[in-house]
Amino acid sequence: MPARWNGWTTASTAANPSHDLRHHQLVRGSGCEVWDIAGHCHLDGVAGAANTPFGHAHPRISDAVATHLRQLTHVDETLAAQQPAEELVDTLAALTGLHDVVFVNSGSEAIEAAIRIAMDYWRHRGQPQRDTIVAFARGYHGCTALAAGLSDLPILRTEWAPAPRMRHVELTPHHRPDEPGAAAALAGEFAAAITAAGPQRVAAVIVEPFLNVGGGIVLPDGFLTELRTVADSFDTLMIVDEVFTGFGRSGYAAFAVNAMPSPPDILAISKGMTNGVVPMGATCLRHSIRNQFGDAVLRYGHTTSGHGLACVAALATIDLLRTEGLSQAAATADWFATDFPQCLRTSGIVELRTYGVVGVLECDSVERALAIAAAARQDRESSLIIGCKQNALMLTPALNTTPQQLRTMAAHLKRAVENTSLYA
Ligand SMILES: Cc1ncc(COP(=O)(O)O)c(C=O)c1O
Repeated sequence: MPARWNGWTTASTAANPSHDLRHHQLVRGSGCEVWDIAGHCHLDGVAGAANTPFGHAHPRISDAVATHLRQLTHVDETLAAQQPAEELVDTLAALTGLHDVVFVNSGSEAIEAAIRIAMDYWRHRGQPQRDTIVAFARGYHGCTALAAGLSDLPILRTEWAPAPRMRHVELTPHHRPDEPGAAAALAGEFAAAITAAGPQRVAAVIVEPFLNVGGGIVLPDGFLTELRTVADSFDTLMIVDEVFTGFGRSGYAAFAVNAMPSPPDILAISKGMTNGVVPMGATCLRHSIRNQFGDAVLRYGHTTSGHGLACVAALATIDLLRTEGLSQAAATADWFATDFPQCLRTSGIVELRTYGVVGVLECDSVERALAIAAAARQDRESSLIIGCKQNALMLTPALNTTPQQLRTMAAHLKRAVENTSLYA
């Protein structure tokens, strides 16, 4: 029988066999509710793949996309301009403070472009020896060969894939982001790694504001700002990967980097960008970096880069973010910070953590986490779809999930934890 071969996705790094998923065929959705082919309603606690900040089938986004679809199919971005792409560049520049934008189709591609730009930037400056990237060992920046090579996570290691020269920063086993001085101490680890790699060889540091696939790890407040100072002091580039945290996921702003006094040199974004309607990502960069290339061509690009449909969906998503999304994200992040730990207080959980519109339940084993996720899903009365990254369960609902829906999700999850503990 023909079969789909699932890779793991970043919503769940332990892929369900596709024959199991045939029984979970989803046919329609509205907000954070989705219905399967048998008519059962499930609560979508992961918002697609943490990429639908405004939930399923949002009418404003669907209408904008449908209108564009009737007008124009595809424009090659090197042969002609199109209004939605031009407008999106201006809109992103206003949101990020970074004035040059490269459009791509996914988070991994945004990282590929970022690393290529960083490496070539130094070559254009006459420093070809800059071949090293400094990153968290548990960072995750995508699954294409170059992006995967940035990480030291076991799920990404292969014996054959090429990788840049890397220097990894480990989190200490007692990583405590709330301790006074934690941000400066962690940035100091990066300074030590740059020193060990040889500062004149470091092309860039790259970090996520929150380690998503790496296990839902919260970093200290102010860490990005401290890292900016470190990068500046070594005259190297700072790349921030907001593929996961962007478009309101960080809770109180469109991007986590908005809290920095000055933006990073390069920013990679994707996921929530089009509310999950059309694949899209972007690499945003300082104009001074772009300038260094002069007339040299950027040696990167895909057939569908900057697709008009994706640009239209992104503009509608950003419009929603500005008009209502940021206040919804702040309210939902407040719920996570205060109510989520209360709702989930139960045995069987090692640690509860929250970051913006993200709730993490760390379990004592991968098996327990998978069993809880399956129990939440199989509850016929009230099925909840939740993500699982190794032994960490992650709730990443849409920003506009109502307080009532959030409480219902938490109640389902608590029941799944308790039922699973009984048989552990
Ligand atoms: C921080 C981060 N970077 C990069 C990626 C890769 O994005 P994509 O899966 O769209 O290639 C992800 C995906 O989850 C991510 O969380």
